Amino acid sequence: MKKAFYLETFGCQMNVVDSEQIVDLLQQVDYVQVPSPDQADLVLLNTCSVRDKAERKVYGHLGRFKPIKDLRPELIIAVGGCVAQQEGERMLEKVPYLDLVFGTHNIHHLPQLVKQVEEQRKRGVEIDFLDRETRLNLFPERTQRDSVTRFVTVMQGCDNFCSYCIVPHVRGREISRPSREVVTEVEGLVAQGAREVTLLGQNVNSYGNRDDSELSFAQLLEQVHDVDGLQRLRFATSHPKDLTDELIECFGRLEKLCQHIHLPLQSGSDRILKLMNRGYTSGDYLRKVEYLKKVCPQIHLTTDIIVGFPGETEEDFQATLDLVEQVSYADAYTFLYSPRIETAAAKMYDDQTGPQKQERFDRLLKVQQRISADIWRADADRTLPVLVEGVSKQGNGQIFGRTEWNRIVNFAGTEDLIGSIVPVRIVKVHRNSHLGEITAPQ
Ligand code: SAH
Ligand code: SF4
Ligand code: F3S
Repeated sequence: MKKAFYLETFGCQMNVVDSEQIVDLLQQVDYVQVPSPDQADLVLLNTCSVRDKAERKVYGHLGRFKPIKDLRPELIIAVGGCVAQQEGERMLEKVPYLDLVFGTHNIHHLPQLVKQVEEQRKRGVEIDFLDRETRLNLFPERTQRDSVTRFVTVMQGCDNFCSYCIVPHVRGREISRPSREVVTEVEGLVAQGAREVTLLGQNVNSYGNRDDSELSFAQLLEQVHDVDGLQRLRFATSHPKDLTDELIECFGRLEKLCQHIHLPLQSGSDRILKLMNRGYTSGDYLRKVEYLKKVCPQIHLTTDIIVGFPGETEEDFQATLDLVEQVSYADAYTFLYSPRIETAAAKMYDDQTGPQKQERFDRLLKVQQRISADIWRADADRTLPVLVEGVSKQGNGQIFGRTEWNRIVNFAGTEDLIGSIVPVRIVKVHRNSHLGEITAPQ
């Protein structure tokens, strides 16, 4: 008889791809996915530990499963992903009703691990990192998904050790996949109906840097670009220090490459950038942005910024505000600095108070909201190509898609348009999305 599993995914796109693999693996051993933990035999959380809040959320969610486990002790509760990798055994100690902890390199063993818990009723932990060769052999065949847009992992892990960041500690060292394999995977996804792919890596543009025989990231992009039937191409996340001229020039050359780049700034202060171990100055960053805008005048930039890094002064913060104004980001994801276990910054002296940090955070948010509003307002009355992704969740007869600039557009239309690029006139600009109308029949 089939058993049921319930899966919740937190964190970044890496975890989204990993969760796809979890679903596939469990289906192979006769589990079916269910939408609620109440009927499940197995409950899994794929977790994120990038900030303390994300980590705490995991414990909060686990607490919700306790009453179910009290009623049905045979329920198996498992935690994977970055918190699992970080905490390992400690997690079993902290959460007495937890059965299984599996790390970011151990997903392929999940069916076996679950079986062991089922048969032996013994709690288990597996968080070993794999070596490069073993890991490279473990990229699964991608299964059919009803989706116009897909993610394709081209590299995993991170070697940068930004001083605030847990990711290198929980994802291990950088490993790039062979380019041939990436291209074949994209061909397969397009054959399944995908029209847009996003090439993924924690530090995607350092692709191939550790392997002289491999293509550069720009060359990989070009090969993927040539896949017939693919209409749009994106990549995330780029590190400014690895953004080469060759890669910037792709935005002027490769038609399918969307005119959008997510380029985390983190701080506009050279002093803080140095303490963060980012490997670039604000001047380096601005020069790259200027070149991007020169090569592709319509390009939209988005970014990540951390407020309240240890020792950040008003002057440092002002430098961030200045840079935000100069670059003019379409959107910025702003975060309050959160000390993470084992990171260098966690040991740095910090004399700012919580309210001071919050006040700066609010100021930055205000500035960014004004800039974003100006940029998105400029879309009003324009007709933009929108790749239709699906039916709106509101169930109001609308479909939705995204512009090249990654902006969601909702508009009246029929399901048969899913997968095509249609011209849509923007009639209303909301804070996080546009409302539009199709301008010409397809
Ligand atoms: N690999 C990506 C993003 C990793 S995490 C990159 O290098 O850009 C996503 C974002 O979370 C980071 O860009 C950073 O802005 C934020 N972040 C990471 N660690 C953090 C911490 N300790 N406190 C607050 N924000 C953090
Ligand atoms: Fe973290 Fe820096 Fe690596 Fe991004 S590049 S994952 S911020 S260490
Ligand atoms: Fe979070 Fe892990 Fe991604 S810490 S951001 S899920 S790599």
